Amino acid sequence: MQTYKLGVIGTGYVGLVTAACLAEIGHDVIALDVDEGKISNLRSGVMPIHEPGLSELVHRNSGRRLRFTTSYDEVVPWTDVVFIAVGTPSDSNGDVELRYVWQAVDTIAHHVHRPLIVAVKSTVPVGTCDMIEKRLREMVRAARGNTVSDGISVVSNPEFLREGRAVADFMKADRIVIGSSEPEPARVLKEIYSPLGVPFVFCDRRSSELIKYASNAFLATKISFINSIARLCERVGADVVKVAEGMGYDHRIMPEHLRAGLGYGGSCFPKDTAALLRICSKVGFDFKILKAAVEVNDSQVDWVIDKLRAVLGELAGKTVAVWGIAFKPNTDDTRESPALRLISRVLQLGATVKAYDPVATPDGNLPGLVVCSDAASCVKHADALVVATEWAEFVNMDFTSVREQMKNPICIDARNCLNPSEVLEAGFRYLGLGRSISIG
Ligand SMILES: NC(=O)c1ccc[n+]([C@@H]2O[C@H](COP(=O)([O-])OP(=O)(O)OC[C@H]3O[C@@H](n4cnc5c(N)ncnc54)[C@H](O)[C@@H]3O)[C@@H](O)[C@H]2O)c1
Repeated sequence: MQTYKLGVIGTGYVGLVTAACLAEIGHDVIALDVDEGKISNLRSGVMPIHEPGLSELVHRNSGRRLRFTTSYDEVVPWTDVVFIAVGTPSDSNGDVELRYVWQAVDTIAHHVHRPLIVAVKSTVPVGTCDMIEKRLREMVRAARGNTVSDGISVVSNPEFLREGRAVADFMKADRIVIGSSEPEPARVLKEIYSPLGVPFVFCDRRSSELIKYASNAFLATKISFINSIARLCERVGADVVKVAEGMGYDHRIMPEHLRAGLGYGGSCFPKDTAALLRICSKVGFDFKILKAAVEVNDSQVDWVIDKLRAVLGELAGKTVAVWGIAFKPNTDDTRESPALRLISRVLQLGATVKAYDPVATPDGNLPGLVVCSDAASCVKHADALVVATEWAEFVNMDFTSVREQMKNPICIDARNCLNPSEVLEAGFRYLGLGRSISIG
């Protein structure tokens, strides 16, 4: 296998995992971030994020094939391929904020002295890689002439890893998408990833950029679909967990993302669905299904609030315990977390909210929220418990001892992750979403 010198710009969930995994499969990697604190922590072995298996990979490769820096000058002149993995958040209109991408591109341009492949891992709107290549070539041509600028190629290489299983997803990716207008950069990217032994999809850059948005939009729609089926289940007396199980065995459907719950969140689905809808509106396409999926998701938290009010009456003066702050288990990421949306709504309605999460802490300002250090103190004297993130710790809890702590034994399983019989046997009133079991 040929090993390459690789630079990775951005050491967030995608960049750090990419850098550590590429080093693990044998390449020489320098990971760069503008956040000096993050880089100095990484150099001393302190992880900026919680991601299973990541710390082991970083420790094993640090100082050998993996280095960390804040200096573009150390990376760009040295590297064969530079991966851009900086954030692309939404602005207030749902448009993609490309500020960090352009900062990275412009800084790369100032340091290019020889031919370079730039692989864009950040999720960017269709056509962005074309613009990046044009801008890089223009800037480099002005500074160093045609020979260097003509050797610059931009490849779209979107990332599909899931937080909470990012290392495993990278190492055993379902597919690697390589969007390139030239064969040689595509060949180099293929060679870099070849030790992973996973399927490749080769295409043009625009198709590659759209594959990422289409995939996330499809998965978001799948979640909203099962959440809609859950609402129907309540009306017709069916159990969505069984309906999903029966559907998921069909290999054309598959069980993943078919669990009814509080809805999707995180740093990708909400912003990527919003971005795709903006892309659609700019080209005059009315993407009705996706609009409906977003609308359903936006109302999931209210559905759970309705359930809380149905069992507690007015929430003012009540104490609600919420287990889970992260947007999903096994991550500390709280960006667009439905659990935080729920907490914020319950606080607005005048209740006291106590919350506990095994690793995540709320980043925003939620006046009145009491953050607890363990699950037991969180439920003490609570009028109701809402399970908002399906951490294994909650699934495996001894509900008899939980009930003893609470004022009212009411449990709203907003992720349908608990065993209802166990919760009912412990003396709780149990309410799932779209489940026939809502008695006790
Ligand atoms: N998080 C995910 O699960 C996931 C999955 C697939 C794709 N993506 C996409 O990957 C991209 C990165 O996402 P993330 O979650 O890793 O973001 P993140 O916010 O966790 O990390 C981004 C990092 O980039 C750094 N950065 C910003 N500007 C920089 C610059 N000019 N030079 C160097 N570093 C810079 C920031 O300091 C930060 O550490 C986004 O486009 C996202 O949509 C994310």
